[in-house]
Amino acid sequence: MSEFKLKVRRFKPEEGDGPYWESFKVDLEPTLSVLDGLLQAKDREDGSLSVRCSCRAAICGSCGVKINGQSTLACKTMLEDAQHEADRTSANGKPAEIVVEPMGNMPVLKDLVTDMESTHWAKIRRVTPWLIPDGPPPEGEYIVPPESMIDVTQSMACIQCGACVSSCLSMEADPDFIGPAALAKAYRFAGDPRDGQAEERLHDLANDPHGIYDCTHCFSCIDACPKGVAPMDQIMRLRRMAGDEFKIDDHNNGYRHETAFTKIIEKKGTLDESLLLQESLAPGVKGKLIPRPGAIKGLLESIPTAIRGLRTGKMRSLPKLIPGVHPKLPDGAQDQVKKIYAHSEEHHYELNLYIRGEEADDEAPVPEAEAIPEAAIVPEPDESEAGQ
Ligand code: SF4
Ligand code: SF4
Ligand code: FES
Repeated sequence: MSEFKLKVRRFKPEEGDGPYWESFKVDLEPTLSVLDGLLQAKDREDGSLSVRCSCRAAICGSCGVKINGQSTLACKTMLEDAQHEADRTSANGKPAEIVVEPMGNMPVLKDLVTDMESTHWAKIRRVTPWLIPDGPPPEGEYIVPPESMIDVTQSMACIQCGACVSSCLSMEADPDFIGPAALAKAYRFAGDPRDGQAEERLHDLANDPHGIYDCTHCFSCIDACPKGVAPMDQIMRLRRMAGDEFKIDDHNNGYRHETAFTKIIEKKGTLDESLLLQESLAPGVKGKLIPRPGAIKGLLESIPTAIRGLRTGKMRSLPKLIPGVHPKLPDGAQDQVKKIYAHSEEHHYELNLYIRGEEADDEAPVPEAEAIPEAAIVPEPDESEAGQ
């Protein structure tokens, strides 16, 4: 047994006080979970301490909280790991308390219990989370080739815990953002070969100002997800389907902006910001700013954003915005970046939770049965017990 100190953010609306911190000492094996610690504190010290839980095995998705600032499941986080992290990040280098808070981006109902209705479940319903097949249902089951389902298995592992929603930085800035969990769920259906409404779904999600182009690629949801769903990757898959497959030119200018980024990197090996707005608004890289009517309007509308960027330090260098004076990267780095770009274009395998892949050795002859792209992709047994 070891002693751990849990510093818990409490909130008891029935008593009318604002939130406050309370520390609890618990005695438990270090390999037991933070949830076990909370339940011991509740059992021995204060029965009113509220935390939501059920399975205690990372299956039901009930016990989402923040531990030392990181959104996760309380039942999946060992006390010794939480203690190690608390000590590692301690300001004075001394042993620290394990800090437990309710999830972010959600109203707190009591102590560690959040209201997931408005911030999670309403958004899940927003993406029509069921299959909409074309035509009448078949006599028996829908039969699909197993390999056509591989791509959606990752999003099927979601247990709806809300950890990704809690950690989403875009949602902090825009609470209306549909968010990582709901968009991962949207890919689960848009990517399903049995669904007949993929294009309509993608039109909707691409043109919604709070949809797929509202994600800022911060990776936070990937770090937070306890089931390896990697919601950001599912959002990128939705974007590729919307832009590359269905050629949806959305009102948010999202697809054109994304294409502009990649085109500039491909051609220059660095992000030349002076071209970015023009390329996003009026595609056609020529290596220099060529004013066009659409671009001029968009550029003028972007001036307040640029000024805010300069003021806040997000945009650090004014000269970078002047065409032709973008600084060159040292030591031929731009050529290296171009090579990386070309390589990734040539070898872009997408791997998910259930797939491990390795590129075939170019030198070695590949057995005929493996000489298809899927040869590099070997399905692995399900690791997750969840599936929706
Ligand atoms: S990657 Fe996108 S969806 Fe994920 S947390 Fe960041 S902003 Fe949110
Ligand atoms: S995607 Fe991951 S973090 Fe988000 S709700 Fe599903 S399981 Fe939880
Ligand atoms: S209690 Fe079920 S996931 Fe933690």
